[in-house]
Amino acid sequence: MTEHDDTAAVGFGIDIGGSGMKAATVDLTTGALVSERRRIDTPQPATPEAMATVVRELVEHHNWTGPLGVAFPAVVRHGVVGSAANIDTSWIDVDADALFTSTTGCDVHMLNDADAAGIAEMTFGAGRGRSGLVMMLTFGTGIGSGLFIDGVLVPNTELGHLELDGVDAESRASAKARERDKLGWQEWAARVERYLRHVEALFSPDLFIVGGGASKKPSKWVPHIDIGTEIAVAEMANNSGIVGAAMAAPR
Ligand code: BGC
Repeated sequence: MTEHDDTAAVGFGIDIGGSGMKAATVDLTTGALVSERRRIDTPQPATPEAMATVVRELVEHHNWTGPLGVAFPAVVRHGVVGSAANIDTSWIDVDADALFTSTTGCDVHMLNDADAAGIAEMTFGAGRGRSGLVMMLTFGTGIGSGLFIDGVLVPNTELGHLELDGVDAESRASAKARERDKLGWQEWAARVERYLRHVEALFSPDLFIVGGGASKKPSKWVPHIDIGTEIAVAEMANNSGIVGAAMAAPR
């Protein structure tokens, strides 16, 4: 553990994305970051070995020696990667818990990035105290989903990959699709609405929490979305992946 930790209430989380890998120490009782947030570009190609080197750098930079969590943009079952939509395909079937544990010497647990973000939001953010079916959706390079039933996570739901109008939904409604197709916010919001209506029809959630990169400017698009389900904007913005990862670290 670091000098920050004399009560064991401090954890360490790493959020891995397609363009950056971010890490910080986290106060597990408040969800606040207690160190500066360090970001290193995701190596290209983003192979397991290249990313493990960056993970080690992030851990060493913070002098962290305790257990830690990693949020990752893929299906992760018990630490083993099961999909590769926006990452290098060499990740498939890699036991990331074992790989990162051996490169860092720390006890590492990896989980899906939207699941991590949802854990943080359910505890400290927009989902605090909310029961029923809450769905965290992150709009970034892809669309991530974290599904909670009375606060309990159902992991790896991958609802960004629902087929809608004959295509993978995230290929039209992610934040990356907005930039790629040079859409105005309102045009993009129409695509997000179409997607949310589809998810709504399938799951009848009590609450959508919208997060990811696009949630940095919620006033540009969230008011344009007209659906029956309540929508809350993620409150932890950029930090939910780090915080949720730290919370999921082995104890
Ligand atoms: C991946 C998910 C991930 C989401 C957001 C999708 O392409 O399949 O695992 O949660 O992107 O990063």
